[in-house]
Amino acid sequence: MLNRRTLLMAGSSLTISHPFVKTLSVFADPLNPPLKYHSHDPANGEPSLASLIRSYITPIENFFIRSHARNPKINATSYRLRVEGMVEQPLSISLADLKKFSEIALVATLTCAGNRRSEFSKDKKINGVPWGSAAIGNAVWRGVHLSDVLNLAGVKPGARHVWLEGLDAVKRDAGTIPFGGSIPIEKALDSRTTGAALLATQMNNKPLTPDHGFPLRAVIPGYIGARSVKWLGKIVVSDRPSTNHYLASAYKLVQAPDPLSWNEAGALYRYPINGAICVPENNAIISAGKTRVRGYALPSGRADCKIKSVLLSTDSGRTWQQANLEKQQNSFCWQLWDAQLNLLPGTKSIILRAEDTSGAWMPQRVAWNYKGYFQNGWYRLPVNIR
Ligand code: MTE
Repeated sequence: MLNRRTLLMAGSSLTISHPFVKTLSVFADPLNPPLKYHSHDPANGEPSLASLIRSYITPIENFFIRSHARNPKINATSYRLRVEGMVEQPLSISLADLKKFSEIALVATLTCAGNRRSEFSKDKKINGVPWGSAAIGNAVWRGVHLSDVLNLAGVKPGARHVWLEGLDAVKRDAGTIPFGGSIPIEKALDSRTTGAALLATQMNNKPLTPDHGFPLRAVIPGYIGARSVKWLGKIVVSDRPSTNHYLASAYKLVQAPDPLSWNEAGALYRYPINGAICVPENNAIISAGKTRVRGYALPSGRADCKIKSVLLSTDSGRTWQQANLEKQQNSFCWQLWDAQLNLLPGTKSIILRAEDTSGAWMPQRVAWNYKGYFQNGWYRLPVNIR
């Protein structure tokens, strides 16, 4: 799963170094900042679509940031991860203790449930960070299996969910709460598949940055980004799902913000198939003729699920052309693709839809929901052909 090329790409952000290559520094371009921020406090930013798909592994600088509060200041020396609840032996684990577990590296795509949210506003006003299509990134995550830590603590019979709680303080009502959530025990104890839950200390072979959860975060492959809790402070093994706001109430598909709707709706875990056209850009003026079109597609977040086909249409969905899938085809990871399209004068849009090996298709349309989650309808790129 991890090959030489992937690992090299992981280091190819602003500084590229490799034993056979002189260190190469690429200076940041002030006209093309690595992220466009929707807000700075808390930090919420996404890269331009063109820079998003420059490489299979997303450089840290171009990796979207989604935070509900300011980054907590954490002292790595005094930092401890607490493990408690339905365990034989509660634990308090330092970063040095974590090094005693087997080190695991895996590649996984992280995507926000609100990716492509702004498209919903065509139907009706939408709440939340107005994400475009770049609240997604693919990284090499290095750390230890969550299951190893839980097995050391000894999970008691009857445990069903594992709560993950951050050390941040999110303003809510009159006070603050930590960001948190939970995952089913089966996902937490998985150590066999590429979808195994990870406690990560590194991203792309570098220590996590403060924005991405230094010194320790969960990475839950196949699940919405919200389950990959950053600045992880506490793990609680329980017989029920977390009572944290971000699992019990937020991150649900509801039509209206009334308490009954929130309580009736189930928590979101796995992300659905999705995809986007990243090049050319929105409303680009293009000469008629052959044009290269590029983007990403994301298979549903389930084991052994890969992208099967990416189809593009320039005639409102009457006919479709297959895109080429780039080499890496991994479950829990996005799939980059490209296609040569013959654009005729008068073409108004390019439409994308993708299918994965579980048989899931991006739907033609997704109904508006109050928080604007799971926009995975056919991606429509308006173009002007001269
Ligand atoms: N963890 C904490 N503690 N606080 C947060 O605000 N945001 C979540 C998740 N983990 C969040 C968190 C959400 S909604 C997403 S999409 C991912 O982190 C984003 O991870 P990134 O900022 O590293 O891209």
